[in-house]
Amino acid sequence: MPLESAKITIPDAKKEAVAKLQIPVHIGVTMDGNGRWAQARGKPRTEGHREGIKALRKLVEYAIQFDVSYLTVFSFSSENWRRPKNEVEFIFKLLRRFVESDLQKLHTNNVRIRILGDREKLEAGLQKIIAQVESKTASNTGLNLNVAFNYGGRAEITLAVRKIAGSVKNGDISLDDINENLVAETLFTSQIPDPDLLIRTGGEQRTSNFLVWQSAYAELVFLEVLWPDFGESNFVHALEIYSSRQRRFGGIEAVS
Ligand code: IPE
Ligand code: MG
Repeated sequence: MPLESAKITIPDAKKEAVAKLQIPVHIGVTMDGNGRWAQARGKPRTEGHREGIKALRKLVEYAIQFDVSYLTVFSFSSENWRRPKNEVEFIFKLLRRFVESDLQKLHTNNVRIRILGDREKLEAGLQKIIAQVESKTASNTGLNLNVAFNYGGRAEITLAVRKIAGSVKNGDISLDDINENLVAETLFTSQIPDPDLLIRTGGEQRTSNFLVWQSAYAELVFLEVLWPDFGESNFVHALEIYSSRQRRFGGIEAVS
């Protein structure tokens, strides 16, 4: 279903479903299993990535319909460069096309887009598109869609350490100014609240360098479904699991 058409609406039935669930403010999603989806069908892995983009479009619609404020998707990790060149190029092309072709629809739906990750190693054309997309949607107040692209959590923290060390060296701040808040605000996710829920599809039970600092207290939900097959029932299932968890943030009483 292409996303170029008009506003995403919320059917009444969905409003009832939403009322029964705890809706996380921020959901992170590791979209895993594209390659296996394709291989199981005797297709090249790239076909799985193509299908995966369709599932991503749907995910954005669910997030809007279920009133999620922040959605961060892991689309390409800094470790994914180890894959064959043609697969990497294909993923880049797809994501570029997604951002370009869906931009208008996302903008119409008041979605603010941010790209999280190391941009400097991306080619100039892509960097330009990223800057345009971010500035065009910067004042939108609906869903915050963060696309983690060329992203790695350790690399993000390392970059922040460098920046902070530089500020100390320049005399802009002193050692005593370094606290968790400053670290958080120096990450790619500055101004974005920590994720409440991380969903990973594809059956692997690990976080693979996604939002390492930010997910300290996130609820983790691992689903067997391969990413291209991810649909609304999977999304609702993850929200049901999340709603059944007690979050204590190190304390002893449930706070939500
Ligand atoms: C996730 O699917 C997409 C990216 C990492 C870009 P995979 O390509 O990792 O699919 P599997 O895990 O090999 O099935
Ligand atoms: Mg994988």
